[in-house]
Amino acid sequence: MKAFFVILSALAASVLATPVISERQLETQADEIDKLTAVVLQHTANINKTTAAAPENPDLLQQNAAAAALAPDFQGITNALTAATTILTKRALGLEKAPRGACGGDCLLVKVKFLVWEIACTLKFVIIKLGLACVLIYLTPLILALAGLLKCLDKVVAGLLFAVKGILSAVLGAVAGGLVGLII
Ligand SMILES: *[C@@H]1O[C@H](CO)[C@@H](O)[C@H](O)[C@H]1NC(C)=O
Repeated sequence: MKAFFVILSALAASVLATPVISERQLETQADEIDKLTAVVLQHTANINKTTAAAPENPDLLQQNAAAAALAPDFQGITNALTAATTILTKRALGLEKAPRGACGGDCLLVKVKFLVWEIACTLKFVIIKLGLACVLIYLTPLILALAGLLKCLDKVVAGLLFAVKGILSAVLGAVAGGLVGLII
Protein backbone atom coordinates (compact mmCIF):
# COMPACT_ATOMS: atom_id res chain seq x y z
CA MET A 1 0.00 0.00 0.00
CA LYS A 2 2.78 2.38 0.98
CA ALA A 3 4.72 1.55 -2.19
CA PHE A 4 1.62 2.33 -4.20
CA PHE A 5 1.42 5.85 -2.72
CA VAL A 6 5.13 6.40 -3.34
CA ILE A 7 4.64 5.52 -6.99
CA LEU A 8 1.54 7.66 -7.19
CA SER A 9 3.20 10.73 -5.70
CA ALA A 10 6.28 10.24 -7.86
CA LEU A 11 3.97 10.15 -10.84
CA ALA A 12 2.16 13.29 -9.70
CA ALA A 13 5.49 15.07 -9.17
CA SER A 14 6.70 14.19 -12.65
CA VAL A 15 3.45 15.47 -14.16
CA LEU A 16 3.79 18.73 -12.22
CA ALA A 17 7.45 19.04 -13.15
CA THR A 18 6.78 19.05 -16.89
CA PRO A 19 4.37 21.88 -17.65
CA VAL A 20 3.32 22.20 -21.26
CA ILE A 21 5.15 25.48 -21.56
CA SER A 22 7.21 27.66 -19.25
CA GLU A 23 6.16 31.08 -17.96
CA ARG A 24 9.01 32.56 -19.96
CA GLN A 25 7.69 31.12 -23.16
CA LEU A 26 4.21 32.39 -22.34
CA GLU A 27 5.62 35.90 -22.19
CA THR A 28 6.76 35.90 -25.82
CA GLN A 29 3.39 34.49 -26.78
CA ALA A 30 1.89 37.52 -25.03
CA ASP A 31 4.21 39.93 -26.87
CA GLU A 32 3.18 38.40 -30.15
CA ILE A 33 -0.51 38.70 -29.30
CA ASP A 34 0.05 42.36 -28.36
CA LYS A 35 1.67 43.06 -31.73
CA LEU A 36 -1.06 41.17 -33.54
CA THR A 37 -3.78 43.06 -31.67
CA ALA A 38 -2.20 46.41 -32.59
CA VAL A 39 -2.26 45.45 -36.29
CA VAL A 40 -5.82 44.12 -36.05
CA LEU A 41 -7.01 47.34 -34.37
CA GLN A 42 -5.75 49.40 -37.31
CA HIS A 43 -7.69 47.20 -39.70
CA THR A 44 -10.87 47.10 -37.58
CA ALA A 45 -10.74 50.91 -37.31
CA ASN A 46 -10.62 51.10 -41.13
CA ILE A 47 -13.37 48.51 -41.45
CA ASN A 48 -15.59 50.47 -39.08
CA LYS A 49 -15.00 53.67 -41.02
CA THR A 50 -15.70 52.07 -44.39
CA THR A 51 -18.78 50.28 -43.09
CA ALA A 52 -20.14 53.40 -41.40
CA ALA A 53 -19.72 55.30 -44.69
CA ALA A 54 -21.80 52.74 -46.62
CA PRO A 55 -25.42 53.77 -47.17
CA GLU A 56 -28.18 52.40 -44.93
CA ASN A 57 -30.07 49.44 -46.44
CA PRO A 58 -27.56 49.17 -49.30
CA ASP A 59 -28.67 47.59 -52.56
CA LEU A 60 -26.67 44.78 -54.12
CA LEU A 61 -24.33 47.11 -56.00
CA GLN A 62 -23.65 49.18 -52.89
CA GLN A 63 -23.08 46.01 -50.85
CA ASN A 64 -20.53 44.75 -53.35
CA ALA A 65 -18.81 48.13 -53.58
CA ALA A 66 -18.48 48.28 -49.78
CA ALA A 67 -17.23 44.68 -49.65
CA ALA A 68 -14.57 45.47 -52.27
CA ALA A 69 -13.48 48.50 -50.24
CA LEU A 70 -13.29 46.34 -47.10
CA ALA A 71 -11.36 43.50 -48.74
CA PRO A 72 -7.80 44.81 -48.12
CA ASP A 73 -8.49 45.19 -44.41
CA PHE A 74 -10.08 41.73 -44.11
CA GLN A 75 -7.07 40.31 -45.93
CA GLY A 76 -4.77 42.33 -43.68
CA ILE A 77 -6.31 40.69 -40.61
CA THR A 78 -6.14 37.23 -42.20
CA ASN A 79 -2.46 37.70 -43.08
CA ALA A 80 -1.62 39.02 -39.62
CA LEU A 81 -3.38 36.06 -37.97
CA THR A 82 -1.54 33.58 -40.21
CA ALA A 83 1.85 35.22 -39.65
CA ALA A 84 1.36 35.28 -35.88
CA THR A 85 0.33 31.62 -35.89
CA THR A 86 3.55 30.67 -37.71
CA ILE A 87 5.64 32.52 -35.14
CA LEU A 88 3.69 31.16 -32.16
CA THR A 89 3.90 27.60 -33.47
CA LYS A 90 7.69 27.87 -33.54
CA ARG A 91 7.71 29.29 -30.03
CA ALA A 92 5.35 26.65 -28.70
CA LEU A 93 7.90 24.10 -29.87
CA GLY A 94 10.53 25.97 -27.89
CA LEU A 95 12.58 26.92 -30.94
CA GLU A 96 12.98 30.49 -29.78
CA LYS A 97 14.18 31.89 -26.49
CA ALA A 98 11.77 34.08 -24.57
CA PRO A 99 12.67 37.15 -22.53
CA ARG A 100 11.69 37.44 -18.86
CA GLY A 101 8.16 38.50 -18.17
CA ALA A 102 5.05 38.16 -16.11
CA CYS A 103 2.19 37.33 -18.49
CA GLY A 104 1.09 33.81 -17.57
CA GLY A 105 -1.75 31.68 -18.89
CA ASP A 106 -4.62 33.76 -17.45
CA CYS A 107 -3.04 36.97 -18.70
CA LEU A 108 -2.62 35.48 -22.18
CA LEU A 109 -6.23 34.36 -22.17
CA VAL A 110 -7.38 37.91 -21.37
CA LYS A 111 -5.37 39.25 -24.32
CA VAL A 112 -6.73 36.65 -26.71
CA LYS A 113 -10.28 37.26 -25.54
CA PHE A 114 -9.86 40.98 -26.20
CA LEU A 115 -8.53 40.27 -29.70
CA VAL A 116 -11.35 37.88 -30.52
CA TRP A 117 -13.95 40.22 -29.05
CA GLU A 118 -12.63 43.07 -31.24
CA ILE A 119 -12.71 40.95 -34.40
CA ALA A 120 -16.13 39.45 -33.64
CA CYS A 121 -17.82 42.79 -32.82
CA THR A 122 -16.37 44.41 -35.94
CA LEU A 123 -17.54 41.55 -38.17
CA LYS A 124 -20.98 41.71 -36.60
CA PHE A 125 -21.20 45.44 -37.36
CA VAL A 126 -20.26 44.74 -41.00
CA ILE A 127 -22.65 41.80 -41.40
CA ILE A 128 -25.60 43.65 -39.87
CA LYS A 129 -25.09 46.63 -42.15
CA LEU A 130 -24.07 44.93 -45.43
CA GLY A 131 -25.30 41.35 -45.08
CA LEU A 132 -23.13 38.25 -44.96
CA ALA A 133 -23.28 37.25 -48.63
CA CYS A 134 -21.09 40.05 -50.04
CA VAL A 135 -18.31 39.58 -47.45
CA LEU A 136 -18.42 35.81 -46.99
CA ILE A 137 -15.61 35.24 -49.49
CA TYR A 138 -13.30 37.35 -47.27
CA LEU A 139 -14.60 36.23 -43.90
CA THR A 140 -14.21 32.49 -44.50
CA PRO A 141 -10.38 32.61 -44.77
CA LEU A 142 -10.28 35.13 -41.92
CA ILE A 143 -12.20 32.82 -39.58
CA LEU A 144 -10.10 29.82 -40.66
CA ALA A 145 -6.94 31.81 -39.91
CA LEU A 146 -8.38 32.75 -36.52
CA ALA A 147 -9.18 29.09 -35.86
CA GLY A 148 -5.56 28.19 -36.68
CA LEU A 149 -4.29 30.75 -34.18
CA LEU A 150 -6.69 29.61 -31.48
CA LYS A 151 -5.76 25.96 -31.94
CA CYS A 152 -2.07 26.82 -31.70
CA LEU A 153 -2.67 28.81 -28.49
CA ASP A 154 -4.91 26.11 -27.05
CA LYS A 155 -1.80 23.93 -26.83
CA VAL A 156 -0.23 26.63 -24.65
CA VAL A 157 -3.25 27.57 -22.54
CA ALA A 158 -5.52 24.56 -22.17
CA GLY A 159 -9.20 25.41 -22.57
CA LEU A 160 -8.52 28.61 -24.55
CA LEU A 161 -10.25 27.42 -27.70
CA PHE A 162 -13.38 26.46 -25.77
CA ALA A 163 -13.48 29.79 -23.89
CA VAL A 164 -13.05 31.83 -27.04
CA LYS A 165 -15.54 29.87 -29.08
CA GLY A 166 -18.09 30.94 -26.50
CA ILE A 167 -17.37 34.60 -27.30
CA LEU A 168 -17.64 33.99 -31.04
CA SER A 169 -20.93 32.14 -30.69
CA ALA A 170 -22.34 34.82 -28.41
CA VAL A 171 -21.40 37.69 -30.74
CA LEU A 172 -21.65 36.13 -34.19
CA GLY A 173 -23.85 33.06 -33.69
CA ALA A 174 -27.07 34.79 -34.71
CA VAL A 175 -25.67 36.60 -37.78
CA ALA A 176 -23.05 34.11 -39.00
CA GLY A 177 -23.52 30.77 -37.26
CA GLY A 178 -21.98 28.95 -40.22
CA LEU A 179 -18.76 30.91 -39.85
CA VAL A 180 -18.50 30.15 -36.14
CA GLY A 181 -19.09 26.51 -37.08
CA LEU A 182 -15.81 26.58 -39.04
CA ILE A 183 -13.94 26.70 -35.75
CA ILE A 184 -13.81 23.14 -34.47
C1 LIG B 1 -15.21 48.69 -34.52
O1 LIG B 1 -16.57 48.53 -34.27
C2 LIG B 1 -16.91 47.47 -33.38
C3 LIG B 1 -18.44 47.40 -33.33
O2 LIG B 1 -18.98 48.60 -32.96
C4 LIG B 1 -16.25 47.74 -32.03
O3 LIG B 1 -16.57 46.69 -31.13
C5 LIG B 1 -14.75 47.84 -32.23
O4 LIG B 1 -14.13 48.09 -31.00
C6 LIG B 1 -14.44 48.94 -33.22
N1 LIG B 1 -13.00 48.97 -33.45
C7 LIG B 1 -12.29 50.11 -33.54
C8 LIG B 1 -10.82 49.96 -33.68
O5 LIG B 1 -12.80 51.21 -33.52
